[in-house]
Amino acid sequence: DPNAPISLDPFRTVAKEMKFLTSNIRQLIGSGHPTLDTVSKYYTQSEGKYVRPMLVLLMSRATALAPKLPRDISPYSVNSPLTRPGILSDGNPSAPDGDLTRLSSIGHDAAYRPEDSDILPSQRRLAEITELIHTASLLHDDVIDHSISRRSAPSANIEFGNKMAVLAGDFLLGRASVALARLRDPEVTELLATVIANLVEGEFMQLKNTARDEKNPAWTEDTVSYYLQKTYLKSASLISKSCRAAAILGQSTPEVVEAAYLYGKNLGLAFQLVDDMLDYTISGAELGKPAGADLELGLATAPLLFAWKDNKSLGKLVGRKFSGEGDVQTAREIVSESTGLEQTRALAQEYVDKAIEAISPFPDSEAKTGLIEMCTKVMKRRK
Ligand code: FPP
Ligand code: MG
Ligand code: MG
Repeated sequence: DPNAPISLDPFRTVAKEMKFLTSNIRQLIGSGHPTLDTVSKYYTQSEGKYVRPMLVLLMSRATALAPKLPRDISPYSVNSPLTRPGILSDGNPSAPDGDLTRLSSIGHDAAYRPEDSDILPSQRRLAEITELIHTASLLHDDVIDHSISRRSAPSANIEFGNKMAVLAGDFLLGRASVALARLRDPEVTELLATVIANLVEGEFMQLKNTARDEKNPAWTEDTVSYYLQKTYLKSASLISKSCRAAAILGQSTPEVVEAAYLYGKNLGLAFQLVDDMLDYTISGAELGKPAGADLELGLATAPLLFAWKDNKSLGKLVGRKFSGEGDVQTAREIVSESTGLEQTRALAQEYVDKAIEAISPFPDSEAKTGLIEMCTKVMKRRK
């Protein structure tokens, strides 16, 4: 139908940059130790969704057209000559791949000329850093959650064991930190370092279902706000602060930086709400990771919290983290007979609407449309 509205694939807008993302990431995490190299690169072999780098690239392009600071500071180029070579090659076994010379270059095709791109090399590097931090958190998360699969393959803890999975995650964080330092922007460094701390804080909040672990907790308004704070730290912090960092690297004005942050925060909250919904509604085969895992792990997420408001008998089960005989099944039935899933979706939609609202002052562009389209994709996704 030639009259059908052109549906814009947000991926297409930044396809050129995305093409080199995985190979650049593989360069960043190369190690001369063959086993470490294999474990660290394991999740780069499977197709992730690349939500975070795509958002960074789209935000970089969308803010390139928005107001900029009047300063004319030429941005630090990650391709510029190195002042202190050899830091990474201290204490071999270090990487043939991991030496600073190669770490410093951003791969691109022959036709690519940085001066033609409105996305800065530092912003492309930021996109890679976000995926590194995310992948590190998945390596650790699968150990904590005793998960057996990720991206439709055995998870790294299953393939290589807990010790190597944890160490590979730490290695990724180390290399992400090196790449971050090389952006030579203290504010951006501070933001992404805070994200790493926030991920741990969110995971700790999740270890407890309520602010105080009680035997028979009562449902209060705090129940949902505690969950949302945890959700911000665990998921929305990385997305929001990397969107903010993208705008900062592009010399955007404070208003634009704030808008980028609010977009990321609201999209990030919606993203995790949908994730918690899919855990109830989609099969493990389709998700590519275990389904129905949250209740098994003792976790009360949004669908259950909304169901609990109308069915106070869930409090006891929440208190014992669904560890009683038949608790998981009982909770699942109560949730499915409740409006918990609908309410979760509705709340996610509210956040997505706020995300779109936040960037409405940006000048119209393909990248801005891509950011709006990402919101639709988050709401429609099944994995
Ligand atoms: C996935 O959640 C996990 C996260 C979003 C973050 C996990 C954070 C940590 C393990 C903290 C320490 C890690 C680092 C690198 C600082 P999920 O288990 O709900 O989702 P899943 O279904 O994809 O496993
Ligand atoms: Mg998990
Ligand atoms: Mg987890």
